[in-house]
Amino acid sequence: MNNTIIKIEDLYYSYDNKTLAVNKLSTEIYEKEWVCILGHNGSGKSTLSKLIIGLLAPLKGIVEVNGKVLNEENVYDIRKDVGIVFQNPDNQFVGTTVLDDVAFGMENQQIEREEMKIRINKFLHKVKMEQFLDSEPHMLSGGQKQRVAIAGALALDSKILIFDESTSMLDPQGREDIINLIKELKSDGDKTIISITHDLSEAILADRIIVMKNGRVVKTGLPIDILQEEELLVDCGLDVPMTVKLSQKLKDANIIDKLYVKQEDLVNSLWEYNLRK
Ligand SMILES: Nc1ncnc2c1ncn2[C@@H]1O[C@H](COP(=O)(O)OP(=O)(O)OP(=O)(O)O)[C@@H](O)[C@H]1O
Ligand SMILES: [Mg+2]
Repeated sequence: MNNTIIKIEDLYYSYDNKTLAVNKLSTEIYEKEWVCILGHNGSGKSTLSKLIIGLLAPLKGIVEVNGKVLNEENVYDIRKDVGIVFQNPDNQFVGTTVLDDVAFGMENQQIEREEMKIRINKFLHKVKMEQFLDSEPHMLSGGQKQRVAIAGALALDSKILIFDESTSMLDPQGREDIINLIKELKSDGDKTIISITHDLSEAILADRIIVMKNGRVVKTGLPIDILQEEELLVDCGLDVPMTVKLSQKLKDANIIDKLYVKQEDLVNSLWEYNLRK
């Protein structure tokens, strides 16, 4: 296991001083892993991500990023290490054009003009938005905004990337594009990736899953193990994907020997079974 890059200890947060959005949460995230935070609406996932980048200040508890305990003095320093794509891309736009917007974060980090241009082109191309360079962000669809926000975060080249439901507004193809992009980042091997979702079919692809409920971590583990805990998932308000349910039944009946998440893989294995018979 790699070194710990984010450590959270007994963290509490409340928006209204009555209910706890994050409630005694402790967890660790390891360097260069792709970890997926899974949880129902309102379980505290976005709040946690805002606490990690110091956008919200905890009531109590410790956030440690890259060896530094987050405080008022080092919050800007720490934000250089953590890029975030917010759940609602509308809250993220600052530029009057797509180009300005992707450039903005880099300008803050005083990246040279030539290098900026290279990165703008590279990352807008990666999210398939290069033809929208001069468009005004408010003219874009939700999914297009999400893509631009992703390009902006990638352009900053931070060690840690948080994607908060970054595929929620995309169509299936767009979703697959972004998931492939995350896979590519993962295989490049130098980033720590935190993706937040309630989509189990996205979570299965990660190295590890952290399940949240009511502001706490209720379980962490390998995707294949977590996905078999149907009771836990149902209790956390998450839907077990149909393919997983079906393959669980087929596995119980000794027809297949493992669980499948992708429908195509399950179908292939059933064909093989059919031929073996
Ligand atoms: N700006 C806010 N003001 C007041 N309460 C809030 C605010 N943002 C979130 N909350 C509350 O805090 C709790 C945790 O919300 P949070 O947005 O962190 O959950 P989440 O897991 O990200 O949910 P979702 O899957 O819907 O994005 C919820 O009860 C929510 O209603
Ligand atoms: Mg959220």
